[in-house]
Amino acid sequence: MNLGIQGKVALVTASSDGMGKNIATALAAEGVNVVVFARSAEKLQGVAREISKQHGVKALAVVGSMLERADVAHLASEIKKAFGGIDILVLNTGRPPIPLRDAIDELDEDRWDEAYRTQLWSTINVAKTILPSMLGRGWGRVIAVTSASVKEPMSHHCLSTVFRAGITAYMKHLANEVGAHGITVNCVAPALIATPHRTGSAAYTPAQTEARSKLTPLGRMGSPEEICGTVSFLASMQAGFITGSTINVEGGMLRAIV
Ligand SMILES: NC(=O)c1ccc[n+]([C@@H]2O[C@H](COP(=O)([O-])OP(=O)(O)OC[C@H]3O[C@@H](n4cnc5c(N)ncnc54)[C@H](OP(=O)(O)O)[C@@H]3O)[C@@H](O)[C@H]2O)c1
Repeated sequence: MNLGIQGKVALVTASSDGMGKNIATALAAEGVNVVVFARSAEKLQGVAREISKQHGVKALAVVGSMLERADVAHLASEIKKAFGGIDILVLNTGRPPIPLRDAIDELDEDRWDEAYRTQLWSTINVAKTILPSMLGRGWGRVIAVTSASVKEPMSHHCLSTVFRAGITAYMKHLANEVGAHGITVNCVAPALIATPHRTGSAAYTPAQTEARSKLTPLGRMGSPEEICGTVSFLASMQAGFITGSTINVEGGMLRAIV
């Protein structure tokens, strides 16, 4: 299917690795020029080089943190210089504090502050800086990566659930406010996607990873490509009448009917 977005420009945040990198690559495969943004300079520049080489699109790497106002202001000015503006904004973030804990065990104020900043503030900081420049273009797509835990809280994911619910509410406000400008605003809510940190040792033991893969009717973890396809669809012309929504990508782990 031709998604109708060839030649558009996308910013994908938190994109030196994992889902962000995969989403930027998937959009580039549709002929979209991409801006990647994360803190690890060398890795990020490698991602941009690889995307450009593989897909023949323009790929700009801007190094910085989503948490820092000055870095995001620099990002906006680099986008303006290179492309004049963007059409597609993908708000992916770094992960919440580890180890993951239940609500009753989340007693440390520093972890709450960190989770607020890395999940919710980082998303708002980028959206509030970049979105105003999308308003005059008559067409746009904003897509945030949240978590299926927003729909059904998962054990130990309290910090993720609370602030991603905040992102979901923020995105709904934006959807209501910018629809008249031809901009749709949606969330993709993953769970059990086998990106490097899920398969590595940071958050789960191998036994926990094994147990988690059995949580879905499909009996496996999801692949990064499976989340990219959903983001690319929401970015497409065909998704123009979907806004203010969340699409879950969690292999049927959520057991509710609606
Ligand atoms: N995998 C799943 O099943 C799943 C489920 C629900 C939600 N999620 C969420 O989806 C997001 C992506 O997951 P992932 O598995 O792709 O994570 P990942 O592999 O750890 O990648 C995280 C990316 O975020 C970047 N990043 C971190 N802090 C940043 C900052 N302050 N500013 C800019 N970039 C920053 C990192 O790059 P630098 O270090 O270079 O900055 C890296 O590129 C995470 O928030 C994760 O919690 C994942």
